[in-house]
Amino acid sequence: MGILAISGGQKAIRKQPRKSALFQNMLEEQIQIVSHLIAKREISSSPVVSQLEEKWAQYTGTKYALAMNNGTATLHSAFFSVIEKPGDEIITSVHTWHLGVTPIICAGGIPIFCDIDPLTLNINPAEIEEKITSRTKAICVTHCYGHPADMDEINKIAKKYKLAVVEDASHSHGCEYKGRKTGSLGDIGCFSLQGSKLMTGGEAGILNTDNKEYFEQAIILGHYEKFSLLSSKYDRYKGNTETVPFMNAGFKYRIHPFAAAMALVELKYLDERNALQIKNCSYISDGLDKIEGFAGPYVAPYVTKLGWLNFLIRFDPEYFKGISRRRIIEALQAEGIEAGSGRPGYIPLVRQPMLSDNDDHPGKAIWHHFVKNHPEYNIEDYPVAEKVLFERISISPMRDIEFDEEYLQQIIDAFRKVSAHRNELR
Ligand SMILES: Cc1ncc(COP(=O)(O)O)c(C=O)c1O
Repeated sequence: MGILAISGGQKAIRKQPRKSALFQNMLEEQIQIVSHLIAKREISSSPVVSQLEEKWAQYTGTKYALAMNNGTATLHSAFFSVIEKPGDEIITSVHTWHLGVTPIICAGGIPIFCDIDPLTLNINPAEIEEKITSRTKAICVTHCYGHPADMDEINKIAKKYKLAVVEDASHSHGCEYKGRKTGSLGDIGCFSLQGSKLMTGGEAGILNTDNKEYFEQAIILGHYEKFSLLSSKYDRYKGNTETVPFMNAGFKYRIHPFAAAMALVELKYLDERNALQIKNCSYISDGLDKIEGFAGPYVAPYVTKLGWLNFLIRFDPEYFKGISRRRIIEALQAEGIEAGSGRPGYIPLVRQPMLSDNDDHPGKAIWHHFVKNHPEYNIEDYPVAEKVLFERISISPMRDIEFDEEYLQQIIDAFRKVSAHRNELR
């Protein structure tokens, strides 16, 4: 019998965590606010939507906010605003969720991918300039897993080439770069408010910007109910209110009032919940830094506030030579850790059949509905994105649980055991 639980030893985790009172209070408030909306029959439109938009604009320090039915709609609206003609290019990261990129194609644009920084896992600013052409319209960044991208570097390049900057801040509600909120650092901020996010409405999204033109473009694309907000140059679109108003072409991207109400309550608790989570995660990261072969996620000095959508532990493949990532996860799971429970990272997007298919497959359909002559991508151009997946292990992001040193120490002990007794895994 070995020492590790996977070989018959005692489990490292014996104590279970407790849900935080903060989280319980938030749930109570959400149940009440949604019940009130049902009782009032505010089930398709409600003042709660503009309350969320006003509060979000205030929170992010931007002029305009527009709530939507999901994050994908906010990204479609952003790319619709910055893309001028079919074939325009958007420079983006190869390491992100596909829904940060397919809206580029659906707005008539072509995604041009950059590899990532090996520490932050965000777009590598050093690769952006060489990808810029006369067709480039914007740079899109995802603040991956909550860690802000290096925005000074990115904004400097954008300014030099007169490009817009779109932030996909779907992972980073409340996170800050040098004291400023993600989503307010470029020209347009896009947030998913889907159920797993740091702040959620169940299924929803919100866009924010200081730029009136971008705000108006987003209204034109998906919010006929807000056409009265458009400036006079769009009067033609508003129709003649004396008769029947025009409805115009476009989509219906408005948020459900229940989702807006839920998100409004989440916003009230966001900073406190992020802070509690980071207290838990920092305790674990500090402990892991003293254990050979493991380390917590990297945090750049420019980060002033953080929340982790995914808590990705780094491991050193050299130290664990000959032991697969799967085997390490199994050993941690046997100790009682929810290892491998979340997303360990993203498969580089250029590997997605939807982007690479060229014959009679749906991939061809998505391209050919919108743009012709799309580029061929080569996985060899993205070596960092290829590698990081095999050097990370996701564990529970420690969200909404009370800070409890005894419980957190047991997690650290589990990693220490797996590191010290790794030879049992061979
Ligand atoms: C980085 C990123 N972009 C976009 C989206 C799309 O958001 P939604 O699912 O709300 O449409 C997500 C959702 O997971 C995401 O993680």
